[in-house]
Amino acid sequence: MFAAALNRIETSASAVMTQRARAMRAAGRDVLALSMGQPDFDTPEHVKDAAKAAMDRGETGYPPLAGTEVLKRAVQEKFRRENNLDYALDQILVSNGGKQVIFNAFAATLNPGDEVIVPAPYWVSYPDIVKYAGGTPVFVPTEFQNGFRLTPEALRGALTPRTRWLVINSPNNPSGGCYRPADLTALAAVLADHPEVRVLTDDIYEHLVFDGAFATIAAVAPAIADRVLTMNGVSKAYAMTGWRIGYAGGDAALIKAMAKMQSQVTGGACSISQAAAAAALAGDQTLVAERRAVFKARRDHVVARLNEIPGLRCALPDGAFYVFPDCRDWLGRKTAAGARLENDGDVAERLLEEREVAVVHGAAYGLSPHLRLSYATGLATLDAALDRIQAFAEGLTD
Ligand SMILES: Cc1ncc(COP(=O)(O)O)c(C=O)c1O
Repeated sequence: MFAAALNRIETSASAVMTQRARAMRAAGRDVLALSMGQPDFDTPEHVKDAAKAAMDRGETGYPPLAGTEVLKRAVQEKFRRENNLDYALDQILVSNGGKQVIFNAFAATLNPGDEVIVPAPYWVSYPDIVKYAGGTPVFVPTEFQNGFRLTPEALRGALTPRTRWLVINSPNNPSGGCYRPADLTALAAVLADHPEVRVLTDDIYEHLVFDGAFATIAAVAPAIADRVLTMNGVSKAYAMTGWRIGYAGGDAALIKAMAKMQSQVTGGACSISQAAAAAALAGDQTLVAERRAVFKARRDHVVARLNEIPGLRCALPDGAFYVFPDCRDWLGRKTAAGARLENDGDVAERLLEEREVAVVHGAAYGLSPHLRLSYATGLATLDAALDRIQAFAEGLTD
């Protein structure tokens, strides 16, 4: 027997796909994985050096629960420098990845029946964390034609007396859509009449905005800033997914509640990783811009190639390192191996089995029929995978 709460959640779809790709590769198959949300770069050298120095200094004991002072100061300075946000140290929490920040926030605030508005498509973990914490995710579809952004009208329509949070993720995983300042002020204007609703803004792809500038809601809408939890992390910006450091700034009472939650789950984030994250945030930022340029070139290449593949339509995403092509024209058709494609789950399945390309189906992100491809991998692999996807498309019959 397992806990009922466990039955409310699933293992993350991108993790499942990536594990399957790994298992197939271990069995000798030549699988190309475009399923992982992980930069293909290495952690910068000065960051690794900071971790080694922390070990040598003996920083190996239990860390302070909410984060080391050095990292909290680096986070504070980052929020000031990059986001024009002023958080006191007791308004900052450091956790084991952005994922744990989100877990702490929902676990510390939701009661049964409380609703969390999650615009779709969404990162797979939001609904499951909400459900685990006893809340109810309320999905609001966004549209390709509107850059996958939630509109103020759609937000107004989704709000109920039970709404406790709105989730904003910009740039978005999986669509790459970004909110501009005017979009955020319009959403904030709707929330002005709903003081019981908090906003979780997941800014983890902040440094991967290709066209225009990044904007975050607490900075552009100061009137609601005390209700905003601004979440971020070092995983994507500094190629530090394995170090597991995320952080947030927000109202001191909320941060205290989240730290209480964390005290019974992990007792704080790894001290060595915290020293590394502080070096990443406070150090030279040149690499971040260089890597952004690499991702932008890949995005342009991948989107152009996808739009040449019969039956796929792909918007040009503003940010992150994913594309989210629409594959509706493939549905109802048969693959070269004779399998009929009923939905995007079938498409991902047959692409993996017949062409050995791992992608994630849009349904996992709440919007079908789409596929999510990560371009956080080298151009040679991307081109080889796109050749296979093209062959898959050309092999479809009615
Ligand atoms: C939108 C989004 N938020 C948060 C995370 C979590 O990142 P981490 O826990 O590595 O900080 C991810 C990782 O894939 C993500 O895509």
